[in-house]
Amino acid sequence: MKSLAAITFIGFFCVIWTNIPFPFPVPEGFPSPIYKFQNNPRTREGFELGRKLFYDGLLSKDGNFPCSSCHQQFAAFATYEHRLSHGFNDQFSFRNAPGLFNLAWKKELDWDGGINHIEVQPLAPLLDPHEMAEDLNHVISKMKKDKTYPVLFNRVFGSPGISSQRILKALAQFTASLVSADSRYDKMKRGEVHFNQYELKGYEIFQQKCSRCHQEPLFTDFSYRNTGLEVDSTLKDFGRMRITGRKEDSIKFQVPSLRNVFLTYPYAHDGRFVTISEVLEHYNSGVVQGPTLDSGLRKGISISSDDRFYLIYFLETLTDSSFIKNPLYADPAMGVRNEAPAHLH
Ligand code: HEC
Ligand code: HEC
Repeated sequence: MKSLAAITFIGFFCVIWTNIPFPFPVPEGFPSPIYKFQNNPRTREGFELGRKLFYDGLLSKDGNFPCSSCHQQFAAFATYEHRLSHGFNDQFSFRNAPGLFNLAWKKELDWDGGINHIEVQPLAPLLDPHEMAEDLNHVISKMKKDKTYPVLFNRVFGSPGISSQRILKALAQFTASLVSADSRYDKMKRGEVHFNQYELKGYEIFQQKCSRCHQEPLFTDFSYRNTGLEVDSTLKDFGRMRITGRKEDSIKFQVPSLRNVFLTYPYAHDGRFVTISEVLEHYNSGVVQGPTLDSGLRKGISISSDDRFYLIYFLETLTDSSFIKNPLYADPAMGVRNEAPAHLH
């Protein structure tokens, strides 16, 4: 009886969702996305299934490490306050977990661009013995035994069956839908607010010194650069070279977006910088020379203490509080669970 009630309940909502148009919103001023939901048409049911999977511990070996354990909404889907993230058996991820947003515009994912399609991306954490430590057949057999998954997969894909391909498509419906484009910067661009004089000055400095790589409106040009960070002797991470095997790619990492940068600390591929000030000091005085160092960084980037003050004002305008509070992206079982800690506001 209970399961019948559950199925009727879910069925009721699915019927309500069916036929509700669910177009992908491309924000004003953004380029055309790379991932256009071809062969994976975006529907409300598909998105909801992806969201449920993203928050479900069932996808990890011991149940404790859903995607959302490392990608937390209040931290713009980065891991809050962690250099590296915790995974299975108290182990750590190899890199700092990036925030997840505007992924539909990314051709290559991860710090080294080692993954070239958003639909296959979840396989990396799922199979990694330090992260979710699972295998797909086992995940599928757990889902088949579950009361709701078989019904939901049937609804979304129009026929019964749970397969790895369907799991990956549903997850992409959620991850590719995470759009952050409502920060104070965006409102300024849309003419809804005016920057104050500090923000304006910071914006000017940013355009002179940073936007070559952190290009608007996504705040990255998606290129791989060596910004003069010394290789960590334990992690021995040579970035893009791990993928291409080419010496000229040594210590190059994909330029990260700076949207929501106030929420995604610590910074850099290994989370070595705790504050934005430390990152700025690196550009100012810490750049390490080397054969693959970006040619524009040979002398570092001179940032006076006034510049730093204004730049921080500007970078703060990239925080999108409606993104981190959007109930559409929250744990479906809990609503928006975690408010950003007060000092982040
Ligand atoms: C144990 C922590 C952990 C878990 C669990 C985890 N991730 Fe991640 N995620 C990371 C780290 C660390 C990276 C960066 C990897 C790299 O650059 O090598 C990452 C990168 C990503 C990226 C690429 C982002 C970008 O901007 O390039 C996506 C997308 C992503 N994860 C989605 C997911 C999904 C979906 C799941 C669940 C199936 C998941 N993650 C589970 C830690 C985690
Ligand atoms: C030559 C290209 C380039 C320039 C110029 C540049 N950056 Fe970066 N930036 C990068 C790359 C690449 C990374 C990632 C480095 C890594 O982790 O190895 C990065 C990382 C960062 C981070 C850390 C972000 C995170 O999520 O971890 C911040 C903050 C940052 N840059 C701010 C700035 C500011 C402010 C300026 C101007 C003063 C600037 N950058 C100029 C390429 C650049």
